[in-house]
Amino acid sequence: MNDQLIDALEWRYATKKYDSAFELDPKDKATLEQVLQLTPSSYGLQPLHYIWLEDQKLLEQTKNLAWNQQQITEAAAVLVLCTLTTLNSTYLNAHIDLTRDTRSMQEEQIQGFRAHLHTAVATKPDHEIRLWNDKQAYIALGQLLTACALLKLDATPMEGFDPNALDELLALEEKGLHSVLICTIGKRAENDRYQHLKKVRRPIKSLFTTR
Ligand SMILES: Cc1cc2nc3c(=O)[nH]c(=O)nc-3n(C[C@H](O)[C@H](O)[C@H](O)COP(=O)(O)O)c2cc1C
Repeated sequence: MNDQLIDALEWRYATKKYDSAFELDPKDKATLEQVLQLTPSSYGLQPLHYIWLEDQKLLEQTKNLAWNQQQITEAAAVLVLCTLTTLNSTYLNAHIDLTRDTRSMQEEQIQGFRAHLHTAVATKPDHEIRLWNDKQAYIALGQLLTACALLKLDATPMEGFDPNALDELLALEEKGLHSVLICTIGKRAENDRYQHLKKVRRPIKSLFTTR
């Protein structure tokens, strides 16, 4: 397993050119959806929503506001990772209710957590909530990239786009959402020269200390 994991991470790279004839297997797509569902988040709040962009016109328009990155129209799948713009008390209560019911708990057993969440989260200013939620999207992205690599799917993480313009294009604000990241998924084109480049990483020794 250890070698398999490292081999997959060495194999993956931020793909620049895709084989546009490749289609994502529905089974792989379903697995990736489960991977994203299983992503951890602070307090388990999952302030996330994912949009598979399939409409050709929307894909073209998205590419236009993403520095014309060709992956958006050539990859087999394009996923927009969005976050919730608020975490109001209705949302918090729904999350605690779900936790209570999923784990067959009594309300008394969870009321401390309910009170804590309302104090810790509901009192945060909006801009802090947005920043905090956006961080959760990066966790999901990391998990998605590793999963793609293990499934031998190529992927490109992207923050090279105008998120406000994408929010407007997809009418996200009225849905209480904000676009944070895009991830394209598919199969590398044979002539994508980036697949042959050596990985540039700082030495492990410089990344860790033990204290
Ligand atoms: C959050 C994030 C945003 C990125 N945005 C883009 C992007 O918009 N376009 C792109 O081609 N690559 C993008 N990259 C890819 C990085 O440039 C790439 O991961 C890095 O150079 C390391 O190379 P490797 O992933 O091929 O190992 C992004 C990566 C991350 C993690």
